[in-house]
Amino acid sequence: MSSTLYTNINSLITNDLQLENGLLGELTDAAFVEQDGYIKWVGSATDAPECDKRISLEGKAVLPGFVDSHAHLVFAGDRAKEFSARMNGEEYSAGGIMNTVRATRSASDAELDEGIATKAMEMYRSGITTFETKSGYGLTVADELRSVSLAVQHTEDVTFLGAHVVPEEYKAKPDEYVSLVIGEMLEACAPYSKWIDVFCDKGAFDYDQSKTIFKAGIEAGLLPRIHANQLSSSRAVELAVELECASADHLTYLTDKDIELLSGSKTVATLLPGAEFSTRSEYPDARRLWNAGVTVALATDCNPGSSYTTSMPFCIAVAVRDMHFTIEQAIWSATMGGAKALLREDVGAIAVGKAADFVVLDAPSYSYLAYRPGVDLISETFIAGTSIYRSNK
Ligand code: NIG
Ligand code: FE
Repeated sequence: MSSTLYTNINSLITNDLQLENGLLGELTDAAFVEQDGYIKWVGSATDAPECDKRISLEGKAVLPGFVDSHAHLVFAGDRAKEFSARMNGEEYSAGGIMNTVRATRSASDAELDEGIATKAMEMYRSGITTFETKSGYGLTVADELRSVSLAVQHTEDVTFLGAHVVPEEYKAKPDEYVSLVIGEMLEACAPYSKWIDVFCDKGAFDYDQSKTIFKAGIEAGLLPRIHANQLSSSRAVELAVELECASADHLTYLTDKDIELLSGSKTVATLLPGAEFSTRSEYPDARRLWNAGVTVALATDCNPGSSYTTSMPFCIAVAVRDMHFTIEQAIWSATMGGAKALLREDVGAIAVGKAADFVVLDAPSYSYLAYRPGVDLISETFIAGTSIYRSNK
């Protein structure tokens, strides 16, 4: 197959620690070679090897594609009215999930599929090249099954979230719902899923219910990740660490004990700035987690209830401004951090052997992602060396 040299890059973020060039492994006046969808060579433009094709990136900045390790893309309808009400003083609650469940149940497969494709395209336009997506708006065996079987056509990182909330028809018998999730629903969904998630929080599932569900999921061969401490401080982080979840997500309400537990574990802390933004909640202190030695990821949490954004640049800007991250920490968390949260070795860096997933910015430096908030700076997005989005600016 033919090789392509990408050159004349003002700033190339590699995330390659071996370069011993800061957290982001930044190279200036850089170039890299892509062949067969993988990175074959990285270095200074002046040392670049001969290739079949040569593309000048005209002094722009290039980053690894963003890795969005937390999204809920299988749904129908919107909840704009709830958002307006919140901006008018109402509180967010897990109960709103049922509104999306009703809309999702009555949508056709084609409508749901088109919704996933539309959001995926939005993600590419924001520089995301890998995304995870969850089920969780079906909450019947048939609707969860179609959610995961549609999702797997768009991403390899599909998460079974039958335990999103107890649906209204089971309100009086939550234990029966847990039995359904760990029985027939899990059996139907496991073949299409890599991950199992539980919303372990106020108004959703408690520690014991969550543990039962995770144990069954792990037994069925799924890997655990958890919604933790979004609405209250609970025992969710304890459970995450106990079960060695790849990631504990949200962490809006964090205690000192939670930070201590996470810092002594392999569990990634995935922060979702869009959720605090859209529910007008306090932001967790990302810098504090980082300084405690916790691996941090940033993700969009795209969903119609609590965070209806597909923009990773937006999440980066908020994490820098309101979660006290440095720009470098935010960029790392949106790329390598996301890869670690998904246990993906193949993405998150521009280094030899990694997938050629990268983003070209309409800017000379990655810092513009926070410095110019709300401005579309994505010039082109590549997955496995193929351009999947190009701005017509
Ligand atoms: O991650 N917390 C649970 N799930 C979603 C919100 C779902 C909704 O409100 O529709 C979240 O924020
Ligand atoms: Fe979520």
